[in-house]
Amino acid sequence: MNILILGSGGREHTFAYMIAQSKRCDSLFVAPGNAGTATIATNIALSVTDFKAIEQSVKEHQIEMVIVGPEDPLVQGIADYFETTESLQDVMLIGPSKRGALLEGSKERAKEFMAQHNIPTAAYASFTAESIEAGNEFLDSLQPPYVLKADGLAAGKGVLILEDLDEAKQELANMLTHQKFGAASATVVIEEFLDGIELSVFVLTDGENYKILPTAKDYKRIGEGDTGLNTGGMGAISPVPFADQTLMNKIEQRIVKPTIDGLKSEKIDYKGFVFIGLIKVGDEPYVIEYNVRMGDPETEVVLPRIKTDLVELLEKTYKKQLNNIEIEIDERAAATVMVVSGGYPEAYDKGKEIAGISDIEDSIVFHAGTAINVGKTVTNGGRVIAVTSLEKDFKQALKKSYQNVEKLSFDRMYYRTDIGFDLA
Ligand code: AMP
Ligand code: GLY
Repeated sequence: MNILILGSGGREHTFAYMIAQSKRCDSLFVAPGNAGTATIATNIALSVTDFKAIEQSVKEHQIEMVIVGPEDPLVQGIADYFETTESLQDVMLIGPSKRGALLEGSKERAKEFMAQHNIPTAAYASFTAESIEAGNEFLDSLQPPYVLKADGLAAGKGVLILEDLDEAKQELANMLTHQKFGAASATVVIEEFLDGIELSVFVLTDGENYKILPTAKDYKRIGEGDTGLNTGGMGAISPVPFADQTLMNKIEQRIVKPTIDGLKSEKIDYKGFVFIGLIKVGDEPYVIEYNVRMGDPETEVVLPRIKTDLVELLEKTYKKQLNNIEIEIDERAAATVMVVSGGYPEAYDKGKEIAGISDIEDSIVFHAGTAINVGKTVTNGGRVIAVTSLEKDFKQALKKSYQNVEKLSFDRMYYRTDIGFDLA
């Protein structure tokens, strides 16, 4: 079948890499894609939220399956668009309906869903400009640090964690009355701070059945030792060493099952990935957030460990037959190191020529922000390339990735040298 992947990052290159290996894939397209996807698929220049243009491409290339990488098109209702457009109804779109995507599109909705279905999460309350006084009083009742979250999508920047009460009140006002994150912070969720270690669990569901995919841990901060500004993610490893059977059983019973059952009981059409951001406090797991897609760079370590044919798995997802397939996981550990443009996550330059890609051996190069310019591969984003390795354990996998990252070079290239530093 012909398959289209929507997106342009390392996550989408990883999907393309896996799907290009499937016997079930005839022609593969990525829109808009990057220099990496161009080597294994046909890139189509379109915006992932331009549903009309996507519809046209689907028809032109006789696409039978569409995999939605990022959250924006999902939150804007691409699955509903396909469902309600007659000529697209038979296309297997992998991604939840708009109602399902609201679990990521609205933090308030996610918290209400968790409360409704008894899923463990931090205590919270939400506020708007009208209730800012109550918000300040709620902050008075909490212990520092204070966690403020813009309700809507804010490109991963909408969460503030503050030590000082006055500063927290100031930021609450900035978000509610000065549109710090635009419309996304018209509602703000204030949460109890959870002190623990983070991990992510990925679930593939057809709305009825589910499969738990490998766990991963990403490193979101720009600086060594988890310091500095938040980024999309500077590296990841899979599996998470502390996610032992006891913890995974708790996660499945208290979080995964109630989440899928909750979607079902609310009659939410959900065929796709659920990315559950968790924090382990003591020995107990709590949900920090839901995402309705795979993570980036988590995908770069999760998918390469899945040995089952990905197209078959996604086809079963669309047909509500996930109960009819076993997932086979590679026992090896995966690690990825993200190489970024100097200045990221703030201002950075694009168009820098990248050297050394073809020197990389025994690792997989996933392009994140790259483009081709007059035959040369150049930087085209903050996150540029993820180098993934699979080895016996995550330390060896990291060592291999770092050996290969050192072969890469471009002006103001930067990467963290301490991915996995907090794991034994
Ligand atoms: P989110 O965008 O919801 O993933 O939040 C971004 C980051 O903020 C998370 O990865 C956590 O490191 C941190 N965070 C969010 N909520 C909490 C919380 N309730 N307690 C502690 N840390 C949190
Ligand atoms: N790496 C975090 C995310 O994809 O949201």
